[in-house]
Amino acid sequence: MTDPRFHNPPLKRHPSLQPLSREHYNGLTLARQLREAALGDEAVRRRAAEQLAGAWAEELEAHFADEEFLVGPLVDPSDRARLVEEHRSLERHARMAMENPEAPSGEWLQQTGAMLERHIRWEERELFPAAERAGGEALDGMAAEVERIHRDRPGSRRRQEQ
Ligand SMILES: [Fe+2]
Ligand SMILES: [Fe+2]
Repeated sequence: MTDPRFHNPPLKRHPSLQPLSREHYNGLTLARQLREAALGDEAVRRRAAEQLAGAWAEELEAHFADEEFLVGPLVDPSDRARLVEEHRSLERHARMAMENPEAPSGEWLQQTGAMLERHIRWEERELFPAAERAGGEALDGMAAEVERIHRDRPGSRRRQEQ
């Protein structure tokens, strides 16, 4: 299902970035779920933390590593530093969710969801366009890596292929 707030359809992306862009749909959905759960009772908040932990294991950790490996070298050092720094912050939150059996506070869930959404929107609006401007040829040469992402991560595929 298309997220109406997602203003940068992956179809406009360079083919090598499309699998990562498609995974952003899942990321935005997760971000919304975390923020909504912030208002819920303890069981709802605990479940949201489990969703975050599950998403980390199934998709986010590998997605972040691929962005740093594929996109990082194509952008300015300041953008690369921001990419890595935000990934580490989100990783800390995912690890807290994995390691802590208690339900997180609503404030923590709200903050985590907002951080994830802001990160994805920055990537779609600024980072990926910068990579496309700088790295046309480099992106063309990533077919094998992109094939691996496509093969290993269902969220990176076109909806009808999942
Ligand atoms: Fe990212
Ligand atoms: Fe991303």
